[in-house]
Amino acid sequence: MNKATAVSPANIAFIKYWGRNISELNIPNNDSISMNLSNCLTTTTVELSDKYREDEIQLILQGNKHAGTRSLADKRTIKQLDRIRQIAGTHLKAKVITYNSFPADAGIASSASGFSALSLAGTAALDLTLDKKELSRLSRLGSGSACRSIPDGFAIWEKGVDDETSFASQLKPVNWWRLVDIVAIVSTEKKKASSLSGHALAKTSPYYSRRLELLPKRTKNILRAIKRKNIGLLGQTIEEEAIDLHLIAMSARDPVFYWNGATIGIMKSLREWRSEGVEGYFTMDAGANVHVICERKHEKELNRRLNAIEGVQYTIVNYPAEGARLVEDHLF
Ligand code: DP6
Repeated sequence: MNKATAVSPANIAFIKYWGRNISELNIPNNDSISMNLSNCLTTTTVELSDKYREDEIQLILQGNKHAGTRSLADKRTIKQLDRIRQIAGTHLKAKVITYNSFPADAGIASSASGFSALSLAGTAALDLTLDKKELSRLSRLGSGSACRSIPDGFAIWEKGVDDETSFASQLKPVNWWRLVDIVAIVSTEKKKASSLSGHALAKTSPYYSRRLELLPKRTKNILRAIKRKNIGLLGQTIEEEAIDLHLIAMSARDPVFYWNGATIGIMKSLREWRSEGVEGYFTMDAGANVHVICERKHEKELNRRLNAIEGVQYTIVNYPAEGARLVEDHLF
């Protein structure tokens, strides 16, 4: 086999990866915890062959398999292919076609789903059989958060101290807890500041060291909340954590403001709705879009209310999902 296709989910972090201890290896300053998202998927086909002179990387646009492709001069993708080639000891060039189930401009990080799918498809195309730990480590080198898209369901990325010890593993399987993540899209702009610069800027915030002191307790609370399926504890803790990440970004030198009016509108509405018994909690990554976490019984009502908020363009409903997996259906 010299061609393989993988499907992999994006993931939402309950405890965020923000700031690195060893930048070149994407070794973080803290452990992070996430859930895979069933409707934010990347599919990637990789073929390695001597018929290719150069690496050819194409993105299928607009979440539409028939809308044509755009070539990507993506250095990070080629670097990741180089890592895979190095493990296999080959110089073969690759053709890569990749497709996101969510609109490319949705402002949802596609690097986690993208680099985990690429790592699995690329290694499988070269007949390398990496176990989940090795695959998580390899994905991490492409994009830190991608290491958490390898295990199924809920994952913990233990920061580790070096390349060998920093990887994600499963905390709980897909069916452990019927949580929902309704992503409210309030901005389809490309991120103003990449997460890469965000990680570098984090330590310039005077509050970053305090964040690191508070994290062990917060991480324990998330672990306890998942173990006991305690939505109140989970919700309160993810909100605190999301605000903390944005506080660090807003107080960095130079400051970065990711939120817009609708982001704040949703944060306030959720609080009101909770007092009426409709229980949803927010978290955001490095962007304006809001992930609303709830249990299944509140999904429909929350989805309806979110879509009625001014500035919400549409929503994407996700359930806990499997991690990266191989599929038979190739994109070319
Ligand atoms: C805010 O370095 O994994 O989403 O720059 O897109 O590769 P890319 O992202 P990455 O940082 C993710 C940061 C975060 C929090 C998180 O997912 O833990």
